[in-house]
Amino acid sequence: MSTKPSQEVVAIVVAAGSGVRLGREIPKAAIEIAGVPMVVRAVRAMLNGGADRAIVVAPEAWVEVFTSFFTGKAERVKVIAGGVMRQDSVRLGLDQVGDAPITLVHDAARPLVPPFVVDRVIESVRDGAPAVVPVVPQVDSLRRVRRNSTVAVDRSTFLRVQTPQGFDTAALRQAHAAAGDKEFTDDATMCEAIDIPVTTVPGDGLALKVTEPMDLVLAEVIARGEA
Ligand code: C5P
Repeated sequence: MSTKPSQEVVAIVVAAGSGVRLGREIPKAAIEIAGVPMVVRAVRAMLNGGADRAIVVAPEAWVEVFTSFFTGKAERVKVIAGGVMRQDSVRLGLDQVGDAPITLVHDAARPLVPPFVVDRVIESVRDGAPAVVPVVPQVDSLRRVRRNSTVAVDRSTFLRVQTPQGFDTAALRQAHAAAGDKEFTDDATMCEAIDIPVTTVPGDGLALKVTEPMDLVLAEVIARGEA
């Protein structure tokens, strides 16, 4: 873990989505996995993996509740309200990063990411990569959708992108400034749009994204140590 202030690593944990696909009343990040809210697991993974502090971006109406999840951790974890699109939430988080030279952006929807993946991403940015993404191979066969048909594509030419994504903070700020209102699915894509190169490091199956109800069942089993 970094101790030098000049190398401070700040993790923005975006958790302001509603998670409608899970069909619950509460935001996805507040849902417990083996008794611990997803956002708490996500923040722990960032801090255990080498981040010095975390900015949690919560749904506006849930800032107080999310803050209560981190009682006693105020020095290292700050909770703020998010925006309409994911990138608005990231941008609001970026406003809180200050002088830290390295920023991670992590989805609270990936609560089980192993700290060694977080460490890999940080090390790659420290080694000079301005934008870093953890990736895993595509295991399913893929078909491209055409107008009236579909056609097989070579899956070995595709990788699945996970989070945390790691950035030189100045590069990430530049990418967000250039993006304006154009919507991007993630921050690395935003960097690439202004020709900032994106480096890959190996991700891990445990960094699965909880999206559908079945993902929640899987995450619960993994967190309980049954898998
Ligand atoms: O909706 P999806 O699961 O793709 O969102 C990815 C991550 O972005 C989630 O952790 C979600 O909480 C976060 N998000 C956000 N602000 C939004 C939309 C999504 O922080 N406006």
